[in-house]
Amino acid sequence: MTDVRVLSGKRVTLGVTGSIAAYKGVALASALHQAGAVVDVAMTLDAQRFVQPLSFQAITHRPVFADLWAPGMETDIAHVTLGRESELIVVAPATANMLAKLAHGLADDPVSVTALAARCPLVVAPAMDAGMFTHPATAANIATLRQRGVIVVDPEEGHLASGLTGLGRLASPETIVDRIRAALGAGGDLAGRRVLVTAGGTQEAIDPVRYITNHSSGRMGYAIAEAARDRGASVVLVTTPTSLRIPGGVACVAVRTALQMLDAITSQYARLDVLIMSAAVADFRVESEARHKIKRGETGLELRLVPNPDLLATTAELSVDSRPVRVGFAAETRDLLEQATQKLARKSLDLIVANDVGGDVFGSDSNEVTLLWAGGRHAALPRMLKTEVAEKVLDAVSGLLPRV
Ligand code: CTP
Repeated sequence: MTDVRVLSGKRVTLGVTGSIAAYKGVALASALHQAGAVVDVAMTLDAQRFVQPLSFQAITHRPVFADLWAPGMETDIAHVTLGRESELIVVAPATANMLAKLAHGLADDPVSVTALAARCPLVVAPAMDAGMFTHPATAANIATLRQRGVIVVDPEEGHLASGLTGLGRLASPETIVDRIRAALGAGGDLAGRRVLVTAGGTQEAIDPVRYITNHSSGRMGYAIAEAARDRGASVVLVTTPTSLRIPGGVACVAVRTALQMLDAITSQYARLDVLIMSAAVADFRVESEARHKIKRGETGLELRLVPNPDLLATTAELSVDSRPVRVGFAAETRDLLEQATQKLARKSLDLIVANDVGGDVFGSDSNEVTLLWAGGRHAALPRMLKTEVAEKVLDAVSGLLPRV
């Protein structure tokens, strides 16, 4: 994995407490470290019954704060230093006991003491048996923490160590990382902006089991949605079905067809600051979807296709108080710049991201694009990861937004 901009070089402290899910903390530490964060780990004694500090030390390449009374601590005052230097603290897993301590300001172990000494954002990911999670005492402690601005990553339903099934499983490392990214990026250059991103390739039904689609993987749109969230935007991701994980901290609207996508955009359009159309929209749909599965026949099959509306051109006609910054993509196999320039004008765009899809772009992690602004300026970017292209597109968007 490569650096994630919002995490790169950030001091993140992971507090691990005594739950069987403590072993999942190792995966979380690894994900944060691989994304470029400098990860310190603080552990309670009970956590160390489940996982050795050495596991975390090996992954983070940093000493673990495991003993409040270790020799040297009197001069080091590790908890104060760690608390002060942390840019974010995440407690995962957080037991019911730790939530109670954090809610009431108790400080008698490396995790609670670090949290009390800190003034940075605090994220907690509870993990416990369902009965303990739903107990009014735990619910009240969580409510207190939320009120104080603590970010609570809700546990998930599933198999619990007790053998029962219920609410209490630690959220996945990906979900927790998403919330950490959003928290760290909250004051970014897109803070307070509403950004709608479309992603994937639309599916135009032929019959109940078949459809026409294209090679779009959705990766570019998902990368933009995540990057916008990490820069403080409130993001709506309008997506067709893809193989990608829905990112946490964005509002997701699931669609299949071009017409459904148009509805989803239209209903949000008046409130948007930015519209980014990275979806590959089918230009045609089957005139009438067969009600039942079309049966094999000896003769050929003719499908009549009718044009779909141009979503960008249609939304450009909507009357709104203030028009959002409008970004389109142009995937071409020839005359890239000429075609992109025409689309920029035809679709009333502020920016178009042109790329040559002659090669192996679909499903790939990287892309080579040229940015073209209305007015004629353009910038050819070298081949780079789609996550990096996403940042470049948002840099351009940020420059186009009216100052607030
Ligand atoms: N787009 C759209 N509505 C469509 C087709 C495309 O809004 N019905 C958007 C895409 O999301 C993209 C941009 O328009 O941001 C350019 O898409 P592209 O498929 O390259 O352009 P088309 O207008 O479909 O032109 P052509 O297929 O002739 O190249």
